[in-house]
Amino acid sequence: MCGIVGCFAESGCYEKLMAALVNLEYRGYDSAGVALAGEKGIAVRKKKGAVRNLFGQPLAGTAGIGHTRWATHGKPSDENAHPHTAGKFALVHNGIIENYAALRAELSARGETFSSETDSEVIVKLIAALYSGDFFAAVAAACARLKGSYAVAVLCADHPREIVCAAYKSPLVAGAGKGAVYVCSDVPALFGAVSYVCPAEDGEFLHVCGSEIVFRRADGTPVPKVFCRTEEEGGARRQGGGSYMEAEIAQIPQGISRTLACLRGCDFAPAARVLRAAGRVFTAACGTAHHAALAFGHLLSQEARIPVLCEAASEFRYGDPLIGAGDVLVAVSQSGETADTLEAVRLAKQRGAFVIAVCNAPLSTLSRLADLLLQTCAGAEVAVAATKSYNCQLLCLYYLAAQAVFFKTTRFPAWFFALEGAARACGQALESAAAAERLARRLQGARAMYFIGRGADRFTAAEGALKVREIAYVFAESCPAGELKHGTLALVEEGFPVFAVATARALLQKTVNSLAEARARGARPVLFTQYGAEAAGCGAELFPPLPSLPEPLMPLVSVIPLQWFACHFCLLRGFDPDRPRNLAKSVTVE
Ligand code: G6P
Repeated sequence: MCGIVGCFAESGCYEKLMAALVNLEYRGYDSAGVALAGEKGIAVRKKKGAVRNLFGQPLAGTAGIGHTRWATHGKPSDENAHPHTAGKFALVHNGIIENYAALRAELSARGETFSSETDSEVIVKLIAALYSGDFFAAVAAACARLKGSYAVAVLCADHPREIVCAAYKSPLVAGAGKGAVYVCSDVPALFGAVSYVCPAEDGEFLHVCGSEIVFRRADGTPVPKVFCRTEEEGGARRQGGGSYMEAEIAQIPQGISRTLACLRGCDFAPAARVLRAAGRVFTAACGTAHHAALAFGHLLSQEARIPVLCEAASEFRYGDPLIGAGDVLVAVSQSGETADTLEAVRLAKQRGAFVIAVCNAPLSTLSRLADLLLQTCAGAEVAVAATKSYNCQLLCLYYLAAQAVFFKTTRFPAWFFALEGAARACGQALESAAAAERLARRLQGARAMYFIGRGADRFTAAEGALKVREIAYVFAESCPAGELKHGTLALVEEGFPVFAVATARALLQKTVNSLAEARARGARPVLFTQYGAEAAGCGAELFPPLPSLPEPLMPLVSVIPLQWFACHFCLLRGFDPDRPRNLAKSVTVE
């Protein structure tokens, strides 16, 4: 959700900025821009569309800022692209300024004119208006007037070797590498360029002065910080001209192995103790992470007989949840920066609950806010639609559920030991790629489809439908298989694809019955199960059998053919799976 970057380098600053911006593009690709402070003032280049539109003659200067935009205020256009400028200043911003209309009116009354429709432009106008020679003081004074969320990086023509940055409820990290220092929205964008990173806390400022980075409070006093070592682990490499999404799905087994190794080293006692004693367990997450949380809630309540309430984080935060001291919130997020999830966590903490985070980014805000972090080690995920992080979230959550069962009953559930074979089973499930592609080819013309399942399979179905909507732009809806006949079935007509996931033997026939009801109305049913032989002759197309794991663990593998299907469906329809329209990864605004 908008990426910002700043860089100081004695040589090659422009190239370094551009490299970081390319890496940051998953946060938004509506427009991009850079500004460098040089001898002759600040030079700006910004354009609607992808970062590659900025490629050209390097801009001169040793300090620069860059931006990749996911539009909130104002359509994607050259004018609305960042950096925004005023007087001697240029600024990039991620976040939303909630009082921008009042500030804009105030500045307009003083004769300021605006060249964009963005909320961000008021910040730079405000800085210029408050400037009387002290660059840092002007940025701090302007930030004091802002309401909402922001990470900003600012250049000043009078101080061409400095960048002043501020962060409040939007992520910002400092990074130090060979020959360059950076500020950036996200650590993964700096992989390879820096060896040490340090995140800013809410309300802190980062002052880049030449190759030095100082964290400061608003009054300018320095804040001592410890930088930690960072190195890329498990990031996907695209094969040939392939997409990140394909590479990331192919990486699921490695992610599972790494996550499992990490979980084995975890002390679960505190988490399991609070879970066992918890009055209530809540989960809060968004999108794909919410589907993982739903599967966890189902498993935990089934196996540990603990009541679990799963909410979309955007609902949790405004729903006045019943959470309080003695309760546990499990927050799930790949990025650890999703605004709704973070607000849910802050609310739970305010009310005295214990927060367990399942997160792929150990330096993220969520990881730092949580009382306990379970790290998914999926490796950096670049494609906007989550895939490998989902499988790793499920693994972490299942491991946690097994620990809760152990602490409650002094016995691990039998399926716990089968987690050791999860990576291998995921590897087998990857072999469904060709079958998924053939299926996508046959259904290429479909304009809508349903995904159904019972028990935990309904969450896999929901994830499959989300993937299709996100990247293939085909209307895809999921519902519990038994609910199909209570309304949704009305839309089924000749040739309408209905995908069913059925991995629980006890419910197989019930799901097959639901498919038969759909088929009787002309639907084209496809069944995903490991019990193909038992479903033979049911009238549905049988997808090649899923690899077999104990039933509670099946969501780890049953989602893989659906991830492949969505990916191939998207490619066949001529779209880029990595950059779905209208979306962005790391949704740092509400
Ligand atoms: C966005 C992405 C989804 C992701 C969701 C939650 O909407 O497009 O793929 O599942 O955010 O992100 P998180 O980083 O919190 O897991």
